[in-house]
This record gives sequence, structure tokens and C-alpha cells, in this order.
Amino acid sequence: MAPLPRVFITRRLPPEVLRLLEGKVALEVGPEGARIERHALLEGAAQAEALVPMLNDKIDRALLESAPSLKLVANYAAGYDNVDLKAAEELGIWVTNTPDATTDSTADLAMTLMLGSARHLPMGETALRRGEFVGWSPTAFLGVQLAGRTLGIIGMGRIGRAVAKRAAAFGMRVLYLSRRPLSGEEERALGVEAGSRPLAQLLPECDFLSLHCPLTAQTRHLIDREALALLKPTARIINTSRGAVLDEEALARALHEGRLAGAALDVYEGEPAVHPLLLSAPGALLLPHLGTSTLAARLAMAERAFGEVTRVLSGARPLYAVNTPARPRSEHILA
Ligand code: GLV
Repeated sequence: MAPLPRVFITRRLPPEVLRLLEGKVALEVGPEGARIERHALLEGAAQAEALVPMLNDKIDRALLESAPSLKLVANYAAGYDNVDLKAAEELGIWVTNTPDATTDSTADLAMTLMLGSARHLPMGETALRRGEFVGWSPTAFLGVQLAGRTLGIIGMGRIGRAVAKRAAAFGMRVLYLSRRPLSGEEERALGVEAGSRPLAQLLPECDFLSLHCPLTAQTRHLIDREALALLKPTARIINTSRGAVLDEEALARALHEGRLAGAALDVYEGEPAVHPLLLSAPGALLLPHLGTSTLAARLAMAERAFGEVTRVLSGARPLYAVNTPARPRSEHILA
């Protein structure tokens, strides 16, 4: 019997998730928790035919070049800015992501952040725990309700659309900016206003701005000092995409200077570091990258990623490729 293909998953996934691959491949699993040492990542990849990294593993050219058997990087995430796509492509290595799997959980979290920021959730809870809740007050923690407010969404991929649908159900007016404008039918189905708007038109309209674009050279610091200056001082920003889509320092300064009402963030430019000015900023609601943190999402992500592993290692093409190697190693070896 041919030996089972070697697959390296860089972190210990929940047992329910790991079970999906049991017996199908020769599995190497990295450590429990948030981090793997670079040398362990390199060693694991060097032996593997398929690598399943987490979004905070840097899969760069040096790593890819030192992995002679590698045919597939099945990123365990929807985002893939941690992978050098070009190097993988040149080396004939497929890179895939896990679309769909993360949509509902991430959209739910964007709404959680929106509501939490609008209703001063962290401040209210902290006050109660400090013993400062001395009775119902007609003026305490006055927030804003979502109905009737305008939400601007940047990036109308799966997650952007899922947020639009939720926001419309809350009675919000929803505007958007997207590389690929939606059809009239799609806009009506989601309950969003017609037509993708340029950033300079979108921002002044927003009471809430939610970011759902991938991090690319074009979107890095898309929301910079100039963009922030176009938002109303009563506006709130929600970010569940990637930290570097925002200029974090400019955002923190806008909050400190009262030029923006709130920022509810799940992602950071230098994760896991959070800019100290953000930590002390009024109106900041900060979560530790929890967008896909439900068992349902993690199982669905594993189904996508592991499906790609079995497909590619049996010589088939992946379903969710985010690069296009001209001569995939997986096919070359079989030929
Ligand atoms: C989460 O951030 C993901 O990209 O899946």
C-alpha cells in the first residue's frame, strides 16, 4: 500500500475538526494555541505535501522554497494575505482559502461590534462590575439605535453582503463600495441602495462604516487620515477584515481628538500587538480576532481546507484556488 500523504496542520485544531482527517493522511499537527515558532513551521513544511497554515503563519518565499514536496497551501482562513501567492505560483504550489465557511460567523461579529459600539456595551458592563450601577437613570450611556442610520460597507464579497442583509433587517440604510458593483437584482435582494459609490462620496454619508475588503496593496491604509476626516464626528468604524486596511494610529488619534465617535475592531495592524493609543482611546471596543470563532465556522473551514487537501493530493484541481500556478506540482508529478 502506498504511504499516506504527509499533511502538516500548523496548530492543534478543535478535536471535532481534526477528526475529519483521521486515517486519511499522515498527519503532523503543530502546537496548541496562537503561535508556532518559525523553526517548527519550517521543519513541518519541509516534510509536507500539503500544508494547512493559520492566518497568522507567515508563508513566505523562503518557507515555500525550502519545502520541496509541497503541492498545496490550504490556508485555514478566508483571508490569505499571510501567503506569498506569487512565490507559490512560481513554484507550482496551489494556494486555497475557505470562502463561505466564515461568512455568517464574521457577519454576526460585525453586527455584534456595531451594536456593542452603538450602545456603549464595554463601558456599561465595566461600570456595573465596578459597583457603579446605582439604579436606572434617564441619562446613563445614551447610545444610538441602528434603525434609520446609514451603514457604509466597503467590500461586497460574501461577508459584506451578509452584513448588508443583517443591517437591512435592522432597518438601516445601506450604501456600499465594491470592486465589482452588484446587479440591480442583487441590490434589491440585499436591501442596499443602488450603485457602488466612490470612497469620497460614501464616507460623509455614514453613521457606521464596516470594512469587508481583503488586505492587498490597494487596500492597505485605505482608511487613512484623509479618509477619516471625511467621516462625521458621530460616525463609528467596524473592522472585521484585516487591521492594516486602517491606519491604526490615525484612527486612534481621531478618537482621542473627538473627531470620531467610535471604533469597534476585531483585527489589528501588528497582531497580536494593539497600538497603545487605541488601548486608551475613548469609544474603542476591541476584540482579539474572533470573527470566525464559532465551532460551526471552524468545522466548515476544515471541511473546505481538508477537501482541498484530499483533492489536490489525488491529482485533482482545487475548488477554492486563490492563485494559478502554470505547472502545478500536483499534476506534474502524476504526469
Ligand atoms: C479570518 O480572519 C479569516 O480570514 O478567516
